[in-house]
Amino acid sequence: MNKLYVVGALFVAAMLGFTYVAMDIKGGMNGDIVNMLAIAGAVVLVIVSVFVVTKYVRQMQSDTAGGELAEENWDSIGEYKNPLPMGWAIIFLGLIVWAGWYFIVGYPVNAYSQIGEYNEDSAKANAKFEEKYTSLTAEELHNMGESVFLVNCAPCHGLDADGMNGKAANLHKRIAEDSVKHVVNNGANNLKTTFPGGMPPMLLQDKAQIDAVAKYVANGFKADDAAGKAAFTAGTCNSCHGENGEGMPSVAPKINGWDAEMVSTVLKDGKKGAIGAMPAFTNLNATQVKAVSTYITDISKGE
Ligand code: HEC
Ligand code: HEC
Repeated sequence: MNKLYVVGALFVAAMLGFTYVAMDIKGGMNGDIVNMLAIAGAVVLVIVSVFVVTKYVRQMQSDTAGGELAEENWDSIGEYKNPLPMGWAIIFLGLIVWAGWYFIVGYPVNAYSQIGEYNEDSAKANAKFEEKYTSLTAEELHNMGESVFLVNCAPCHGLDADGMNGKAANLHKRIAEDSVKHVVNNGANNLKTTFPGGMPPMLLQDKAQIDAVAKYVANGFKADDAAGKAAFTAGTCNSCHGENGEGMPSVAPKINGWDAEMVSTVLKDGKKGAIGAMPAFTNLNATQVKAVSTYITDISKGE
């Protein structure tokens, strides 16, 4: 008997053995017709493959080239003018047609996707939210802001926004002295979307002046604090932040209190400072950001 048939028969036996073991690991046949069909399909595939492969291996062993040679040759390697095998040509053209079908009507383009369903659902929910909460009074914004705060911000800033002993910023006031000193010494460029230029470090280097300016800013720009006011001018702080820290659009934030722009830009970009890092919050929509800004502005005024 031909050696190839022996090898083929052994191969079939091995494949069947593997299939049986694999089925058994998954809990056996369980009398399930689908499993039986799968096994039968596997057996047919294996047998057909073995016979096809055997046929061609034998043909390769015994075949000689034939037909009419083309005129050109490449370093004496010639080419026969054989016609394309019909089966191959049909499969080739069929695949082109099938690829067109697959791309336009078939699987991926029109298929159901979980991400698509999720996006559709959240777009619907967002539209409903926008419709329901179009014109909110200041009080409604404050209340919505409070609930947004309790869910998203309280874990770090504390239930009453006092920063939990310095774990995060105390939001009842705009800024603490240590944080002012930190930005003066190190500069800052967290809020790139709103203030792309950032703040350069070392505008003041004299320790007494830095202390004075920190006290001045943290205590809310007291008019009678002459030393602080002088340091603020000496450090050219006023050229960006304005005379009383009211801020300048696209140049520097308001530092004499909170405003919606400062809170929303912190939420958009996150912020690293003297205390630590605050993550960006991209899951809040525009109304929620406005609400939480209102809430923070209110509590910093003691409301
Ligand atoms: C070139 C313009 C510029 C100058 C001058 C400048 N700042 Fe700023 N300052 C900024 C910008 C921009 C930011 C926002 C930084 C960021 O993106 O993180 C900022 C942020 C701050 C903050 C807020 C930090 C916080 O954590 O919220 C304080 C306080 C501050 N500056 C104080 C000062 C003081 C004091 C001076 C003077 C010594 C000064 N700045 C000079 C541009 C400036
Ligand atoms: C993972 C902890 C964490 C969470 C959650 C968090 N923050 Fe913060 N936040 C911080 C820390 C830390 C700072 C201080 C950053 C620094 O060193 O300046 C801060 C600072 C701030 C500042 C002050 C920025 C400044 O310039 O002084 C604002 C405003 C703020 N957070 C608002 C919020 C809001 C609103 C939420 C909820 C939507 C929130 N934070 C959630 C940790 C957090």
